[in-house]
Amino acid sequence: MSDVADWWRTDIIDMAPGKIRLRGQPIETLIGNVSFPQMIWLMLRGDLPGTGQAALFEAALVAAVDHGPQAPSIAAARMAVTCGLPLNNAMASAVNMLGDVHGGAGEQAIELYRMIDETGGPDATEAAVGRWQSDRGAFIPGFGHRFHKPVDPRAPRLLALVDQAVDDGVCDGRFAAIGRAIEATLASQKGKPVPMNIDGATAVIYAELGFDPPLARGLFCLSRSVGILAHAWEQRQQGGRNKGPTPPAYRWAYGGPNPIDEGDG
Ligand SMILES: CC(C)(COP(=O)(O)OP(=O)(O)OC[C@H]1O[C@@H](n2cnc3c(N)ncnc32)[C@H](O)[C@@H]1OP(=O)(O)O)[C@@H](O)C(=O)NCCC(=O)NCCS
Repeated sequence: MSDVADWWRTDIIDMAPGKIRLRGQPIETLIGNVSFPQMIWLMLRGDLPGTGQAALFEAALVAAVDHGPQAPSIAAARMAVTCGLPLNNAMASAVNMLGDVHGGAGEQAIELYRMIDETGGPDATEAAVGRWQSDRGAFIPGFGHRFHKPVDPRAPRLLALVDQAVDDGVCDGRFAAIGRAIEATLASQKGKPVPMNIDGATAVIYAELGFDPPLARGLFCLSRSVGILAHAWEQRQQGGRNKGPTPPAYRWAYGGPNPIDEGDG
């Protein structure tokens, strides 16, 4: 039987008829005693966070839930519902919009923060940003925002909570210092603010708490799924059929042969 039992191997859950243990803890002792963020931490890491860790983790999860129908992920959820898809398909369509440029940049942000941490800390920021830009492109992940200039209101609030957590001995603050150093480097490079955005700020928290880079993206998906579900549900209640990205009176820029002359026939 071992070839069957060993087909899937996990340290996460043990289960037998009438028994469910997650990371060794009976589900009935977890229910009613741990919060949803604590449960996410337990599932991903195998232990329960301390009170301060849980509070900081929860703040990052709260911060990223929504950015309105202009955000491609939210728009995708709403469009999917108007095409008749049920909530699960709308949510999957929306989560699939999250990538390197929208909502997924936290993964690369932690990679960069760690690279800077390993090569000398904040003093190594300018050189590391230059290396990143020549190796991986001009845009530094976790910084810049279409709308929130000069400041993304979520970032200073999240960093203030990190500062508080440092005072409380929850984390050491070295990734917050690196994030701030990147922001200063980009501001002097561009001659104007390139603000730390939600991906950059939550990446600071996830790095401070010891999460590996790919999990920043996974955690963003969990957080944004809350907003995605809310918008999909609202759209379903509103109705609307087959809504595209713009009202029908607006069209795209056509650059091919034989453009239609609106004055004709
Ligand atoms: C989010 C994003 C697409 C917005 O881009 P944008 O609308 O072009 O940003 P802005 O118009 O404010 O750009 C202002 C200037 O700063 C530069 N800039 C913007 N974000 C930058 C970044 N992350 N790194 C370096 N330079 C950046 C732009 O190139 C532009 O330079 P220019 O004036 O010389 O042309 C862009 O900042 C980005 O790709 N960031 C990295 C990915 C990321 O963090 N995504 C999550 C977004 S919440």
